[in-house]
Amino acid sequence: MAMRFDGRVAIVTGAGGGLGREHALALAKRGAWVVVNDLGGARDGSGGSATAAEAVVAEIEAAGGEAMANAASVTDPVAVRAMVDAVMAKWGRVDILVNNAGVLRDKTFAKMELEDFRFVVDVHLMGAVNCTKAVWDIMREANYGRIVMTTSSSGLYGNFGQSNYGAAKMALVGLMQTLSIEGAKNDIRVNCLAPTAHTRMTEDLGARLPLELLGPEMVTPGLLHLVSEDAPSRCILTAGAGGFERAYVTLTQGAWIAGEDAPEQVAARFGEISDRTGEVVPDMGAAQGFIELTKAQAAHKA
Ligand SMILES: NC(=O)c1ccc[n+]([C@@H]2O[C@H](COP(=O)([O-])OP(=O)(O)OC[C@H]3O[C@@H](n4cnc5c(N)ncnc54)[C@H](O)[C@@H]3O)[C@@H](O)[C@H]2O)c1
Repeated sequence: MAMRFDGRVAIVTGAGGGLGREHALALAKRGAWVVVNDLGGARDGSGGSATAAEAVVAEIEAAGGEAMANAASVTDPVAVRAMVDAVMAKWGRVDILVNNAGVLRDKTFAKMELEDFRFVVDVHLMGAVNCTKAVWDIMREANYGRIVMTTSSSGLYGNFGQSNYGAAKMALVGLMQTLSIEGAKNDIRVNCLAPTAHTRMTEDLGARLPLELLGPEMVTPGLLHLVSEDAPSRCILTAGAGGFERAYVTLTQGAWIAGEDAPEQVAARFGEISDRTGEVVPDMGAAQGFIELTKAQAAHKA
């Protein structure tokens, strides 16, 4: 059956271009009323204008869809709250939030100013927190919500020159892990999307990649699944060029070690500790302690 979003209201941040624009267009095409949020600034977050968001709204309307533009910076909790108030006044609900707005200020850690670190964390992490906080109670009351955090392979696996960006992006995975647990009883499903796409954010990589394969529209089908009625929760979906994969934060079976020579034992048995045979994906943080205590109790009994 076709995936539809009729009657659903979706907020997509950073939707004036790139991936966010594709997400907004696709949601509107499939029936959602869409809030196209974008500060309209430069790639490093400087400047701003409502034009980018308004242009995407015009595209949606020209195709017969419904949308509203919003130029709030996701870093401004007051402006974000005002955006959500305006959406509630107009459409009376918020079903979907796509935290997509983002900036880059790449430099090696040695050369990076703390201000550039703080700014990138503020846009990616606190921007998503501000937007999520503004819709959280609405979704709880409605007993329905679909939220996506846009993470990145830079956070999941690291990337030279992106310590600020990678840290912010991995922080979103941590946010998703807990919100998916807290949101479950109200059917609020929270997921992460790690895209690869040719946008202005990745234009510097251009010469080295077959750009025609990396259109942002190739990522959007994954986003649609993550915000659909049948969405999973607590999932990290990676997507690019039509490839879709999942990333997991796993835990190995490890070893039980105690006693005077424990440091030497940890060193000597590091291969065993690292062995991925039988590794698990814990369903919450407490599972780590439970697994460790189980090992300790078994060792004390033996
Ligand atoms: N393109 C990729 O390969 C890739 C890879 C991993 C993650 N991402 C993430 O995907 C998301 C979209 O990136 P993109 O590649 O489409 O880049 P993009 O630069 O085209 O889009 C980002 C948008 O966010 C907007 N924005 C920036 N700061 C904002 C703020 N404070 N408030 C509101 N809007 C703001 C920008 O104006 C821009 O339109 C970002 O979170 C990015 O980190 C992209």
